Amino acid sequence: MTDIRFDGRVAIVTGAGGGLGRSHALLLAAHGAKVVVNDLGGARDGTGEGGSAMADQVVQEIKDAGGEATANYDGVDTLAGGEAIVKTALDAYGKVDILVNNAGILRDRAFHNLEEADWDAVVTVHMKGGFNVTQPALRVMRQNSYGRIIFTTSAAGLYGNFGQTNYAAAKMAVVGMMNVLKLEGAKYNIIVNTIAPIAASRLTEDVLPPQALEMLKPELVSPIVAYLCSEECTESGGIYSVGGGYFSRAAMYEAQGTFIDGDVTPEQVRDNIAKITDMAGAEEFANINGQTMGRIFPHLQKGAPTQ
Ligand code: NAI
Repeated sequence: MTDIRFDGRVAIVTGAGGGLGRSHALLLAAHGAKVVVNDLGGARDGTGEGGSAMADQVVQEIKDAGGEATANYDGVDTLAGGEAIVKTALDAYGKVDILVNNAGILRDRAFHNLEEADWDAVVTVHMKGGFNVTQPALRVMRQNSYGRIIFTTSAAGLYGNFGQTNYAAAKMAVVGMMNVLKLEGAKYNIIVNTIAPIAASRLTEDVLPPQALEMLKPELVSPIVAYLCSEECTESGGIYSVGGGYFSRAAMYEAQGTFIDGDVTPEQVRDNIAKITDMAGAEEFANINGQTMGRIFPHLQKGAPTQ
């Protein structure tokens, strides 16, 4: 098998001034990609003046290792920022082949105490940020009939975590975005996947035990990002849990369920709850049609009682 290479490919990694993004950028560059290292250099909660130091440092690391990189300091939280990030790639390297949506902030608080500003800031960076950078990048990818896009979700969104309603909601939003973009991008060889990482970074340094942090190097997450961004990757629309050497696909499944005919009563739902919730034979659907056309409509056409 040949090595995975990105020679001639142009990658954007958002929030690449530290943590996971830095690791992704270094790995893509080490395998030949020209990388736009985006980071606005703020604090972990998105506050602060920001600045160029974080992105510049990573660009320097890439250059010192013999790679090619350009810094960008715009925020992903506005469309103008997203457009400027993509423009940096176009001005420096003429195209965009790979986009890793990684930038993120945290403002954890129990839902009943959450301020609107904490909701807005987190949703803006993670969810709207996904739109702001991906739309201008995808327009370029469509023209070139080639693209690899990564979103970054979280187990907090997939499975739940106390104190993170804003973050969890925003992180599931990017899964929804991926589910649609995998369909819209397919014709243009644009492949879209999502990672749910766990790694030591400033986001996790005070929530994970020190022994765990030592084993959760960001460098153990980036290899799957590189694979999913490679030409040979044909999987699209996947969610991958990854960290500490663990790699696993996560997916949405729907139970076989049951049909209740006629005017359905709450009591009938109660009496069928075991069938409704039985996950034996549960299915994953490639798109909405698989579910509605495959499951619901055939039954309606048959009008068949199943109880
Ligand atoms: P980090 O704080 O080290 O990296 C995030 C980077 O994004 C920072 O360098 C920050 O300056 C940058 N950033 C923040 N707002 C930005 C904006 N508006 N525009 C441009 N850049 C911005 O944290 P980490 O852990 O490396 O996080 C990377 C991604 O992985 C985030 O999306 C995070 O939510 C996600 N994630 C991380 C997990 C972990 O265990 N570290 C767990 C699950 C998800």
